[in-house]
Amino acid sequence: MAVIVPDVWNPTLIYFLVVFALYAVWTKWTASSSSKNRKLPPSPFQFPLLGSLPFLGSLPHEAFSRWAKKLGKIYSCRLGGKTVIVLNDADMIREALAQPVLSGRPHMYTAEVTAKGHGISFASDDTWSIHRRFAFKTFRALGVGQGKIEELIQEEAEKMAGSIASLNGEKFCNNNIIRTSVGSVIAGVLFGERFDFDDPSTHAFFDKMNAVFRFFGPCGVLNIFPVLRFIPAIAANFKKVIEALEGAAKFIDSIIKDRDDCLDTRTVSDYTDAFLNARNKEKELYGKPKLFTDQQYVGAARELFLTGYDTTTSTLRWAFLHIGKNAEAQAKIQQEVDEVVGSGRLPNYADAKAMPFTSAAIYETQRLASIAPLSIPHRAIQDTELSGYFIPKDAWVFTNMWYVHHDESKWQDADAFRPERFLSADGKELVLPNDFIPYSIGKRSCPGETLAKMALFLIFTTILQRFKLTVENPEGVDMSPVNGITLDTKEYLLTAVPRN
Ligand code: HEM
Repeated sequence: MAVIVPDVWNPTLIYFLVVFALYAVWTKWTASSSSKNRKLPPSPFQFPLLGSLPFLGSLPHEAFSRWAKKLGKIYSCRLGGKTVIVLNDADMIREALAQPVLSGRPHMYTAEVTAKGHGISFASDDTWSIHRRFAFKTFRALGVGQGKIEELIQEEAEKMAGSIASLNGEKFCNNNIIRTSVGSVIAGVLFGERFDFDDPSTHAFFDKMNAVFRFFGPCGVLNIFPVLRFIPAIAANFKKVIEALEGAAKFIDSIIKDRDDCLDTRTVSDYTDAFLNARNKEKELYGKPKLFTDQQYVGAARELFLTGYDTTTSTLRWAFLHIGKNAEAQAKIQQEVDEVVGSGRLPNYADAKAMPFTSAAIYETQRLASIAPLSIPHRAIQDTELSGYFIPKDAWVFTNMWYVHHDESKWQDADAFRPERFLSADGKELVLPNDFIPYSIGKRSCPGETLAKMALFLIFTTILQRFKLTVENPEGVDMSPVNGITLDTKEYLLTAVPRN
């Protein structure tokens, strides 16, 4: 039998030897890493280069939730070159977000190009911590949670009721009406401006902003493979988004220009006044603003406006959809409104304490809709450990709110609208389950939570005080969400019949 003796200078053999040597080094390295307990959480199937990306589909939270069922409270996957850790349990999320090293934000291409390090959500270091604290402090000082902002929301809720009444029972899509009112509440707090429902430019503006919200998403291809920005079709879409955001920035920039002229004579009545006062103090102290620059004002105000109006609008749209389909729940809310508020005055925020079913219906909407299904991604600032697993520096950390809020082992008949889940056995007390975290927790939790809660309660109750709502085709209406930064409803039609 002939024996084939390899030619030692054969380039193929050299290639294989090099690959083998690299493989041996790699296995040794991973073995020594795991001996230090550097074990990543388990993963679903991954393709080379793309990782789990091809499985995500148009609603990534659904794929992440399928894997959660198989792999448990924590798993990892790769999206392109990024290592992603996915947390699927409220206690695990609490444990993770208690670690300051997990409060970073990923370097995402779309966020970096649009926010340029300004704002709060994707800012880091002092810019983030000082402006986050400033937003909390300013919202409190302006009266969020109290009378002054309450009046602003009541006025807008009443205007919204007026717009609905003027339809005289005709079917309507509530998108324009809700976003104008909610947009006016948030713009009122930030800039002292309101939107005019009858002005066509209002709707043109919101349509553009809506396109922005539908374009972005943590798993969007541009964030995973920024190089795709050179593909003409993707570049053209992204350009439209940037133009829309620049339009919003121009509008906000014009607000400070006008405000600068009359700042001395004003008492602080919105976020803009408070910001410009802080800027002027820095000018006095250091000769020029350090953290309270005009660019940061535009970045932060634009972001607070967009996140604030979009999240609250989508939540209300889900709330009216559920309530328009569930006549029984609607009747219980109206009974509470009639008993606690009556018909002679507007609901106020203090009424919420005496209206547990109404509050429970809002919470149940938030659970089912989970409008921020993967929250905003976090990033490990350094190597760390979680639940015995290694979390490498720069890993993206997704908190899978969708799964936490739909986990069948925690929520019986998770897909059913059942406000009673949030009530004590006698139905008299509101109960907040451990597994309900719509505003997230920890150092990055939502600074707009109190403002959102007020707006949701006051607008929802004012409309249900005045109208009986019915959704067209209640059994057939499409309840699947439209994806984006947040999950919105598909279009649906409501009929509102005055209650008196
Ligand atoms: C129903 C309404 C809302 C929901 C469900 C919601 C939910 C959330 C969630 C889940 C996060 C991510 C937290 C994390 O990364 O761990 C967040 C962050 C944030 N939210 Fe909200 N939000 C709402 C309304 C608002 C409003 C009204 C504002 C402001 C006017 C606002 C401003 C922000 C900002 C600036 C952040 C980033 C915080 C940071 O990075 O430090 N949100 N929100």
